[in-house]
Amino acid sequence: MAKERPAGRGFFITFEGGDGAGKTTQIKLLSEYFRSAGQTAIVTREPGGTPVGESIRALLLDPSSAMLPRTEALLYLAARAEHVERVIKPALAVGSHVLCDRFSDSTHVYQGIARGLDAGALLRLDAWAADGLTPDITFLLDAPPECLSGRRRKRGGPDRMEEEGLTFQRAVRAGFLSLAAQNTNRILVIDARQSIDKIQTAVRFHIKDKFPESK
Ligand SMILES: Nc1ncnc2c1ncn2[C@@H]1O[C@H](COP(=O)(O)OP(=O)(O)O)[C@@H](O)[C@H]1O
Ligand SMILES: [Mg+2]
Repeated sequence: MAKERPAGRGFFITFEGGDGAGKTTQIKLLSEYFRSAGQTAIVTREPGGTPVGESIRALLLDPSSAMLPRTEALLYLAARAEHVERVIKPALAVGSHVLCDRFSDSTHVYQGIARGLDAGALLRLDAWAADGLTPDITFLLDAPPECLSGRRRKRGGPDRMEEEGLTFQRAVRAGFLSLAAQNTNRILVIDARQSIDKIQTAVRFHIKDKFPESK
């Protein structure tokens, strides 16, 4: 559960969902909203966001990197430790909002549910890697994977995670929905089949609702 946010700290907002769900698109629009309201917001992504994190990202997403599921999970967590300490926490501390493309929920779904790693171990290791940091609010952009295949193609060739096929993508979707059902006070599910504008309107509505001071 998200802890109480200290006064003056920025909002830590994450976007989750399958590839092609519209995370990058919505984050960009939300950052424009904050900036137009005179607030600072940084956009970042996982894995990545730091020099070491981007190197780990390249390794993880390279279709030629064969690795054990445990190795994969530890690499994601290593990238997260750097990201939290060097980017996210310092930004939040100076009052900047942090809009992050994927975070711990993706680890739990991709490495836990879809790869079958021990959920309890992942939870503990992730809390350690993230030094206990949890998002204030998470938007889950949800749609059946077959509805998103056209959008994924538009973005270019498949990466290692995207090559897994429809069964894997369905397990990912079910995993995210199950996490959302267990974290209803943090995770908001939005139908990703709606138009870009409609989704962004819903995102902004929930932000204003959750953080009345952002208006
Ligand atoms: N709601 C939407 N309706 C139609 N197309 C969309 C929508 N959201 C995003 N797209 C398009 O689908 C593609 C993938 O979107 P993107 O934001 O990169 O997804 P993600 O970051 O979740 O993988 C992009 O070409 C984008 O313009
Ligand atoms: Mg993206």
